[in-house]
Amino acid sequence: MEFSTRSGRPEALKAQCLLVFAEAGGKLGAAARALDAKHGGVIAAAIKRGDLTGKSAQVLALADGAVRIVVVGLGKVAEANETGWLKAMRAGLDAVLASAAHDLTVCLDGHPVRRRDAGWYASQIAQMALHATQRPDQMKSKREDPPKLAKISVWAESEADQARIARGLRHGQAIGEGATLARELGNLPANVCTPSYLADRAEALGKEAGLKVQVFDEKAIAKMDMGSFLSVARGSAEPPRFIVLRYQGAAKDDPPVALVGKGVTFDTGGISIKPSGEMDEMKYDMCGAASVFGTLHAVAQLKLPINVVGIIPATENMPGGKATKPGDIVTSMSGQTIEILNTDAEGRLILCDALTYAKEKVKPVLAIDIATLTGACVIALGHVASGLYSNDDKLAKELLDAGHAAWDRAWHMPLWDDYQQQLSSNFADMGNIGGRPGGSITAACFLSRFTRDMKWAHLDIAGTAWVSGKAKGATGRPVGLLTEFLISRSGGDRDAA
Ligand code: BES
Ligand code: MN
Ligand code: ZN
Repeated sequence: MEFSTRSGRPEALKAQCLLVFAEAGGKLGAAARALDAKHGGVIAAAIKRGDLTGKSAQVLALADGAVRIVVVGLGKVAEANETGWLKAMRAGLDAVLASAAHDLTVCLDGHPVRRRDAGWYASQIAQMALHATQRPDQMKSKREDPPKLAKISVWAESEADQARIARGLRHGQAIGEGATLARELGNLPANVCTPSYLADRAEALGKEAGLKVQVFDEKAIAKMDMGSFLSVARGSAEPPRFIVLRYQGAAKDDPPVALVGKGVTFDTGGISIKPSGEMDEMKYDMCGAASVFGTLHAVAQLKLPINVVGIIPATENMPGGKATKPGDIVTSMSGQTIEILNTDAEGRLILCDALTYAKEKVKPVLAIDIATLTGACVIALGHVASGLYSNDDKLAKELLDAGHAAWDRAWHMPLWDDYQQQLSSNFADMGNIGGRPGGSITAACFLSRFTRDMKWAHLDIAGTAWVSGKAKGATGRPVGLLTEFLISRSGGDRDAA
């Protein structure tokens, strides 16, 4: 998909398809009125007929000869918010995708959501277009025809807005393509997307994006004393991999941001096996890892002046004759011992060693881990916000702001010492579960025991990394939040307008 900005008088716009907005009551902006006049009053006629009221997410596809005009209702603009605008835009885009149009020009006529500038809309349009045109049909014997739409332009009147749009499209395309990669990896079945497959894809991404990639096999992992990580891999016939990807956009000695992604390519629960209903969705238990791939892809595309290290512990969690048993005690890379009371709380067992690796070997300015960690987080926050934990309130605020900017939102959860006692064990330094109360919080508390003396944040994406039901599929979150965070930390991309 190609994206560009457009300027000039709206009536001079040439496109196979034009998308304009209408407010409640069929109120049109100046650009829509000018286009309407040029195209024989087709929009005004639709309003007069009563076909177009401008109610939220209403879509009307009109035509004037060869030119398609898609009008999207925004409802009452005084009540407009991001969610409503995105829903309306998506409805309009779907109508365009159902047509045979190769190119589309979106006329941003005014900014219905007051807090947002033209760049935000442009970024969302780019991300949405890349999401809407991605079909998770790699494994189908007959793939659908690819969508015809290949070019999207965004028009706005003022020069200042055009500059914002150019920037928004550049960021939106990078985020969107990163999220596309994350969705692709997430949607692959676990018999394809194994730990070794992720390692191969890391090497491929390294070549494509100019990253240094290191892959540690089981022996090398054992040599690093990652007893906790290895305890999860024991039950599986698929060997684990520990993957490190390095992007260098700043001076060599500039300490990097570390992104640590949970890469459980399938989570059966192990000996504490899960019930079989919807267990297929546990192929998504590597979506944290996928978001690290996607974010590095975006960062490299934007050539951000920052160093970033991606760290991915990848393994299956399977039952088996050699599998870890409830009550087994293992020694983590940090030296702390863990009584594994539930083998289904495996994410924290692989992340704790990856975080210790980050702290000891990478020495980052800060580390963020991203994990489909707990069902409890889904109960707490549903499928809207990712759970955010941090041992540094300033970092938490930066991440919350990035999530709001990218519209890939997180919510700050408590990491108070009061919860730590739930992890105590009679036999080891800690247990790996804290009981049902505050299950997402105690998982974060477990990780906090491995990130002392390091600025650290944890994103629990169990509710946000994929959607279930008829539209089942990975979302590509939180590539938007992470990329926006890195853009803002690095002070913008090098080609910034
Ligand atoms: N991968 C799961 C978390 C999960 C479950 C994410 C369902 C999304 C949907 C994780 O490894 C897990 O099994 N966690 C357990 C922890 C419990 C045993 C303390 C959970 O949430 O039930
Ligand atoms: Mn589990
Ligand atoms: Zn898991």
